[in-house]
Amino acid sequence: MSARGWEWCLAVELLLLPLLFLATNAQGHSTGEVIVVSGSNVSLQISKSLPDNYKQLTWFYTIHQKIVEWDSGKSKYFNTKFKGRVVLDPESGALNIYNVQKEDSSTYLMRVSNATGKEQEWKILLKVFDPVPTPAINIEKTEETNNTCYLKLSCVIPDQSVNYTWYADSGLLPEAYQRSVLELRVPEPQKYSKFYTCEVSNPVSSKNDTVYFIPPCTLARSSGVDWIASWLVVMVPTILGLLLTRDELF
Ligand SMILES: *[C@@H]1O[C@H](CO)[C@@H](O)[C@H](O)[C@H]1NC(C)=O
Ligand SMILES: *[C@@H]1O[C@H](CO)[C@@H](O)[C@H](O)[C@H]1NC(C)=O
Ligand SMILES: *[C@@H]1O[C@H](CO)[C@@H](O)[C@H](O)[C@H]1NC(C)=O
Ligand SMILES: *[C@@H]1O[C@H](CO)[C@@H](O)[C@H](O)[C@H]1NC(C)=O
Ligand SMILES: *[C@@H]1O[C@H](CO)[C@@H](O)[C@H](O)[C@H]1NC(C)=O
Repeated sequence: MSARGWEWCLAVELLLLPLLFLATNAQGHSTGEVIVVSGSNVSLQISKSLPDNYKQLTWFYTIHQKIVEWDSGKSKYFNTKFKGRVVLDPESGALNIYNVQKEDSSTYLMRVSNATGKEQEWKILLKVFDPVPTPAINIEKTEETNNTCYLKLSCVIPDQSVNYTWYADSGLLPEAYQRSVLELRVPEPQKYSKFYTCEVSNPVSSKNDTVYFIPPCTLARSSGVDWIASWLVVMVPTILGLLLTRDELF
């Protein structure tokens, strides 16, 4: 695809993200925050229009590294990890980044100056997250003592910053239980939960896993209902097959 074609595609397909801008002072310094999933195309853009007849516009990845500079009608892309992945739209000042990665997370700066050298600056915080992997609940321990079932479950995923949420059939478990390892005592006569679900999440995604509780103190990877359903799938045709075979024999 030609550079122009790609630019056009980007413009059309970009997630145009609503930005929240908070004016921090009278010189026009503003900040916004953008949260996206890795692999997205994003457009970093200020919500107000650019100063009229600006002379120079520069985007920085952190204060020390220039990404692109627009000066007197020409865009100069610097030799950064963004090369080939960014397109500046001088019209709006938007910095379009293609296929963002976790490492692109940073505070981006846009600096605009006019002929008299008057500078204005905006900051945008970009946070890129990978989708969370599917967790697997590990049954660490089940132990029945004095009619009480002690359960220890851990919800594990490869190292990543996530939040853990546990659910039982009554809904969300109390705040104190919301971490990777779940320890519970289920007093037998009391109403028990038929399942425990661990959900891992970050701001862009969530996944979950469930284990099923069988009183008095057993946990199973799948529910009895699933088991009966799969049993029927196997057994019904078998029984029908046997009946048909029998019919043919007589
Ligand atoms: C990002 O833009 C490119 C180029 O236009 C396109 O091929 C790709 O599908 C887009 N990706 C997403 C996640 O929208
Ligand atoms: C430059 O910007 C300042 C402040 O925004 C403004 O007062 C001034 O008129 C501008 N100068 C030109 C030449 O646009
Ligand atoms: C079980 O109950 C008995 C009698 O109430 C008590 O002596 C014992 O310590 C209990 N065992 C545990 C493991 O709690
Ligand atoms: C975890 O939850 C807290 C509070 O809701 C939130 O501020 C934080 O961003 C979450 N962290 C992740 C990795 O999702
Ligand atoms: C678990 O994930 C499934 C889809 O994979 C979803 O339908 C369900 O609502 C999720 N459950 C919880 C408790 O988040």
